[in-house]
Amino acid sequence: MTRTAPDSLSPDAALAALAWQLELGADEAIGEGPVNRFELAARAEPAAPPPAQAEREAPGSPGRTPARAAAEAGEAGEAVAQKPEALDPVAEAARIAATAKTLPELAAAMEAFEHCALKPAARSFVFADGDPAARVMIVGEAPGREEDREGRPFVGRAGQLLDRMLGAIGLSRQSPDPATAVYITNVLPWRPPANRTPEPAEIAMHLPFLERHIALAEPEILILMGNTPCQALMGRAGITRIRGQWAKVAGRPALPMFHPAYLLRNPAAKREAWADLLDLAARLEETP
Ligand code: URA
Repeated sequence: MTRTAPDSLSPDAALAALAWQLELGADEAIGEGPVNRFELAARAEPAAPPPAQAEREAPGSPGRTPARAAAEAGEAGEAVAQKPEALDPVAEAARIAATAKTLPELAAAMEAFEHCALKPAARSFVFADGDPAARVMIVGEAPGREEDREGRPFVGRAGQLLDRMLGAIGLSRQSPDPATAVYITNVLPWRPPANRTPEPAEIAMHLPFLERHIALAEPEILILMGNTPCQALMGRAGITRIRGQWAKVAGRPALPMFHPAYLLRNPAAKREAWADLLDLAARLEETP
């Protein structure tokens, strides 16, 4: 069955329809009907003529393309606009991140970074929460819908479970004491549409910012929640195998753990998560 749009929509209905499209992950207004861009490209770009034919095309001849004319103008010494070199977003992120001397400077630099396609579709920039002086820094994946609304990491259902998990071993993001506080961030500061998993290119261009974030916060211990931060910082995923195994990340001990969203879907895995929390508490006790 084909659904057609009604001829006229009230402003409220149009806004609701747009909000629904955004919920579904639409991030760009393109047109009313589908466009086969392969067909367009094939029509717009006829195959290049063989060299013999190209040579026959004298200046001003009907078969002379604008590109050829521009090339000839260049050969004749006239000014031709050069296509700028494609910028490498990862190198650019590394360059910018290195200039940040404080966490507020880093946040401002990340927010101004224009090379991530997630940015225009997101509502909020989500940097961090909790106490940057805390002994423990938690790294999650990316903001979800609630985090995008509030501009703070881990405030939805998974975040509430995370707060309960931390509370069970005496830690809290609200604690005024760095010894019992936590600092929380994500690999990405922008919500991926429809909460999809971040793509490797998105992770790669934010990794220099995350590494700088860790270097500036200087936590004693890192907790990596789920596969995305493990892949980003350890180059390894497979959380069911690597959870609970301490690793060294950015020069400090790091513990991969199940993501609380995974625990919501798989309550039986809370047993392992509890073992990991006790392990974390024991390590904090060892070096008060
Ligand atoms: N999941 C994450 O990984 N981070 C958040 O901030 C929220 C949900």
